[in-house]
Amino acid sequence: MKKLAVFASGNGSNFQAIADAAKSGFLKAEICLLVCDRPGALVIERAEKEGVPVFAFYPKKYGSKAEFEADMIEKLQEAGVEWIALAGYMRLIGPTLLGAYGGRIINIHPSLLPAFPGKDAIGQAAASGVKVTGVTVHFVDAGMDTGPIIDQQAIIIDDGDTEEDIARKIHCIEHELYPATLNRLLNKAGKAAD
Ligand code: GRF
Repeated sequence: MKKLAVFASGNGSNFQAIADAAKSGFLKAEICLLVCDRPGALVIERAEKEGVPVFAFYPKKYGSKAEFEADMIEKLQEAGVEWIALAGYMRLIGPTLLGAYGGRIINIHPSLLPAFPGKDAIGQAAASGVKVTGVTVHFVDAGMDTGPIIDQQAIIIDDGDTEEDIARKIHCIEHELYPATLNRLLNKAGKAAD
């Protein structure tokens, strides 16, 4: 069973979807750590309910990103983490963490990349007037939502859809797509290593 850490900063609905998929046996992985850079975030409560250990930290208490990523790596290695899934983690990954886990860090982004990278992708899509947007799962590199694309799924923006309607459609897709893509990826990697 692959050992997975989830990184999140907020609500954690994607963390929950991944945890539920692991619990049901659909996702053949063990979530062995939640990493959270906002100690009051709802995702922490979700992890505690699921019995997933939490590493929560205040970035400002460290001198630099390199320092908090070094601390993170220690916690990840102690937990035996092999893969990292970013799920609403609102920071760029720095060279320290990429050096340790590069190629094994995945992100989910609420647009069809390369359209609408960065913050508020759903708001950007709503404001632009596009009729199709969607969800992308991709490998993480040093850029902002720039790594190689693994999977994508589109949604239609119907006439009259509000930003909330679009967000609902996006989250619905995310909660199916992320566990399924992670499962495919981790199990493929598992077979290659056999
Ligand atoms: C999701 O829309 C994800 O695509 C983006 O951040 C959001 C996190 O939502 N990266 P949640 O915290 O999982 O509910």
